[in-house]
Amino acid sequence: MNLAELYKEMGRHSWKILDAIFKNLWDYEYVPIQLIASQARIGEEKARNILRYLSDLRIVQNKQTEYEGSTFTFFGLSLYSLHRLVRKGHVEAIGKIMGEGKESAVFNCYSGKYGECVVKFHKVGHTSFKKVKEKRDYGDLHFSVLAIRSARNEYRALKKLQGLAVPKVYAWEGNAVLMELIEARELYRVRVENPEDVLDMIIEEVAKFYRRGIVHGDLSQYNVLASSEGIWIIDFPQSVEVGEEGWKEMLERDVRNILTYFNRTYRMEKDINSVLDRIMQE
Ligand SMILES: Nc1ncnc2c1ncn2[C@@H]1O[C@H](COP(=O)(O)OP(=O)(O)O)[C@@H](O)[C@H]1O
Ligand SMILES: [Mg+2]
Repeated sequence: MNLAELYKEMGRHSWKILDAIFKNLWDYEYVPIQLIASQARIGEEKARNILRYLSDLRIVQNKQTEYEGSTFTFFGLSLYSLHRLVRKGHVEAIGKIMGEGKESAVFNCYSGKYGECVVKFHKVGHTSFKKVKEKRDYGDLHFSVLAIRSARNEYRALKKLQGLAVPKVYAWEGNAVLMELIEARELYRVRVENPEDVLDMIIEEVAKFYRRGIVHGDLSQYNVLASSEGIWIIDFPQSVEVGEEGWKEMLERDVRNILTYFNRTYRMEKDINSVLDRIMQE
């Protein structure tokens, strides 16, 4: 997807329409066209034309059955969230895509305030069991709401972990999280010379997260970045607070994943229980 080019194509009315969809996402999966038109202060016929155009660009998806309504696509929600970051003065320019996976698309970007950064657009919801039960607070649990919640959860976890080996986090808007660009590669793509030290650093970091009340929940060789400068841990949308349902199982799984990787790759043996004791001591 080419966000930068499309961004330039968008006019004032298109942004107003997207504003109106965004405001009503929590109440409707498909926001009724009358509501969009009235909140955007645009006549219904004109709103319909703009929505058709936005649908051709794959920014929104329109439906005609039951009632006429529109919802964001992943691409549209990301474009709109980028717009909010720009409008608030956090981002000046969006650059190349660095990676796109099942769960997110990550772009290079430039910020006058923070320099070179990355913006991560969330694609899916990482909803814990407990949070699903609270679903009435959020209306329908459809794609946009879930992706926004994932971004929020990642932002909040990173906020609590600032100062530790995680990217500095600057802002959250919609499904987008703006953070520091880490110049390092995923652990699985590098062969480290000092695996004992690297494993130790990772465990020490997990212990520090624990002391701040956070369990990562998806720790693996894919979510650790490493360079000669050190290690960083990324990717927090599914993280939970210590004490939340399932936190202990998640911590154990995190530690097991890392130990298994070091065992397979560097033939290192470490007892999981003593590592867990070390993390949870005090
Ligand atoms: N702050 C960052 N600095 C540099 N690269 C990053 C950063 N955040 C993410 N990436 C890159 O984007 C990829 C996907 O990001 P990640 O947060 O792991 O999301 P996903 O849930 O899609 O795995 C990472 O594996 C990494 O290559
Ligand atoms: Mg990842």
